[in-house]
Amino acid sequence: MGTVAETVGALTRGFTDAGFPSARLDARILVGHVMGLEPSLLFARGDVVITDADMATIIAYANRHLAHEPVSRIIGEREFYGLAFKISADTLDPRPDTETLVDAVLAHRAMFAAPRILDLGTGTGCIPLAILSAWPEATALGIDIAPGAIQVATENAGRLGLAARARFQVGDWTQGIGGSFEIVVSNPPYITEAEYMALDPEVRLYDPRAALTAGQDGLGAYRALLAPAAALLAPGGRIFLEIGLGQADAVTALAQAAGLRILARHPDLGGIDRCLVFAV
Ligand SMILES: C[S@@+](CC[C@H](N)C(=O)[O-])C[C@H]1O[C@@H](n2cnc3c(N)ncnc32)[C@H](O)[C@@H]1O
Repeated sequence: MGTVAETVGALTRGFTDAGFPSARLDARILVGHVMGLEPSLLFARGDVVITDADMATIIAYANRHLAHEPVSRIIGEREFYGLAFKISADTLDPRPDTETLVDAVLAHRAMFAAPRILDLGTGTGCIPLAILSAWPEATALGIDIAPGAIQVATENAGRLGLAARARFQVGDWTQGIGGSFEIVVSNPPYITEAEYMALDPEVRLYDPRAALTAGQDGLGAYRALLAPAAALLAPGGRIFLEIGLGQADAVTALAQAAGLRILARHPDLGGIDRCLVFAV
């Protein structure tokens, strides 16, 4: 038995000793999840005594985290663009860097009245659903090769109240997709084989390999999707791609070979080029 404050303190010390950089936040998210409380509300409930059953769950979760399972995988949820997304073994755990791509798209709100958005490799659906939540006139189609990801994305659309404007379907990049789109977005797999082998266990053991790697040089997905995506663009349309560290020039060259011209590079919060914008 212990109070919320004591338990958050004990977990924080344990995670700090294990060298976890976000020890206090991890502790608050895990305790908050078990108690059904927003982490930000835990302070106000610091003296609540935790039941034996809840404490047993918290200890089990803490031990899983100490064995390097990410907190988001333990609670099955990740916050992205201020929204809560369900994640599963079939989906990538959405990364904060990808919010750069969402911001880049939303900066074009004045350009398109009611854009049709196509997201290639949608995972949890975090990119199109974050865009739709901020852009009430937009609609989206999300594609993923993993049926389990499509199931999760569809569930996330329902949880966020966006199901009427978002559709998700299984597919291999653009194969079988008709119509045209004002905006095509993609955060495809872009890690090289060598980078994959060197990943931290938190990433390598829990994110699906197909969500991370794309051939020896990490550029396979861009090669596969750029030309067909260009063919699906409506007049005046834009393609927004997330890229990995140091890939801007190579992806720009592939896009130019597919008949596209580069319009902008957007850096992430670390100053690394993270999103490229193209037009025909
Ligand atoms: C880097 S993850 C991005 C997931 C999500 N968009 C996000 O930003 O969190 C890449 C996604 O592409 C999907 N994918 C890989 N190959 C694919 C293909 N040939 N066709 C469609 N989707 C594919 C993976 O299943 C994975 O969900």
